[in-house]
Amino acid sequence: MIFRQLFEPVSSTYTYLLGCEETGQAVLIDPVINAIERDLAELYRLGLTLAYSVDTHIHADHITAALELKNKVGSKIAAPAFDRLPCADVGIEEGVPLKLGSIELQPLHTPGHTAGHFAYRVGERLFTGDALLIDGCGRTDFQNGDSDALYSSVTEKLFALPEDTLVYPAHDYKGRRVSSVAQEKKRNPRLGEQRTREEFKQIMASLNLPYPTFIDYAVPGNQQCGVCPDHLPNELQKYCLQMTQSIQG
Ligand code: FE2
Repeated sequence: MIFRQLFEPVSSTYTYLLGCEETGQAVLIDPVINAIERDLAELYRLGLTLAYSVDTHIHADHITAALELKNKVGSKIAAPAFDRLPCADVGIEEGVPLKLGSIELQPLHTPGHTAGHFAYRVGERLFTGDALLIDGCGRTDFQNGDSDALYSSVTEKLFALPEDTLVYPAHDYKGRRVSSVAQEKKRNPRLGEQRTREEFKQIMASLNLPYPTFIDYAVPGNQQCGVCPDHLPNELQKYCLQMTQSIQG
């Protein structure tokens, strides 16, 4: 399998490119609209055809490139069926793998950050979205977030996978790229083995995080599979403008 981890610096999002060497088909996990030209250039360079884009959840911090990719190269939009997005071509459900060539994405419903959040396992790699970050996790205070549900998703579902499973998160704000189930079980300060459910809920309830800058534009845009609003305030235009340099994450 061809694999690339790509970084979008405005929202510190990792987009994952997975390509099948036999069929030349590819999927992008969590593509970002302002990095679409970078992603298409990478696919072209690798000689791959984009069959699908797939999102882990309805993002609040960036706009997905799903719809723009479909319009540009005809890729299908896969998204969690839970969210019932009319713009999705394929509704992702747990137990029903998304297949392209020799690649199989195994969807795992992991509610808590959002109710419809999914992680995807591909062999020894686990794409955890915002359910599990390196030494952290996504917030649980909006979009039907639920710390009780997130504790169950991570400790009962993701931590049940083999310990050598590699953890690839949707974000990292400190330049870290990959972890493992064993490492997160051992030392994740919120969800590692020393934390009880009650401790986790207490931690999440006392984070006092600021209201997300872009959420009021991102969520409605992502409910349409990735539409940039017409009139963005100047300071938010960077969320929709193309990346000016090809930064590799
Ligand atoms: Fe998120």
